[in-house]
Amino acid sequence: MIGSGAEARHHFPAFRDRPDILRLSAICEKNPSAASAFAAQFPYSIPIFAELDDLLDKAQVEAALVVLPHNLHFPNVNSTGGLAPIFHRLSKKVAKPFR
Ligand SMILES: NC(=O)c1ccc[n+]([C@@H]2O[C@H](COP(=O)([O-])OP(=O)(O)OC[C@H]3O[C@@H](n4cnc5c(N)ncnc54)[C@H](O)[C@@H]3O)[C@@H](O)[C@H]2O)c1
Repeated sequence: MIGSGAEARHHFPAFRDRPDILRLSAICEKNPSAASAFAAQFPYSIPIFAELDDLLDKAQVEAALVVLPHNLHFPNVNSTGGLAPIFHRLSKKVAKPFR
């Protein structure tokens, strides 16, 4: 999960209700207290990273849920963006430049 602000809350029930198919493996978040509060809801420990590169380097990730502010979606989810190494990328915004 990239970003763990207001919209991330709407995704929590999916993780809570389907632990058989979904596990939150890592959070990338600039605000440590937001990330810690989100991670504290889970019955397992979730590594938190302030930098995406660090997460990609250290965490095991199969898919990315992007809940960043509007302007940061395109630079991260486009085919050459920071999340390009992750094949499955769910963005909460249309993947085009934000104007
Ligand atoms: N809040 C909603 O009900 C809602 C509903 C549908 C869609 N959305 C969309 O979801 C997206 C996120 O919205 P939100 O309401 O959660 O915003 P938010 O500001 O509450 O959360 C965004 C989080 O991203 C973090 N962040 C910012 N830059 C970062 C970076 N470079 N790396 C890592 N973390 C970073 C912030 O610290 C913050 O915690 C937006 O595009 C919004 O339009 C929100």
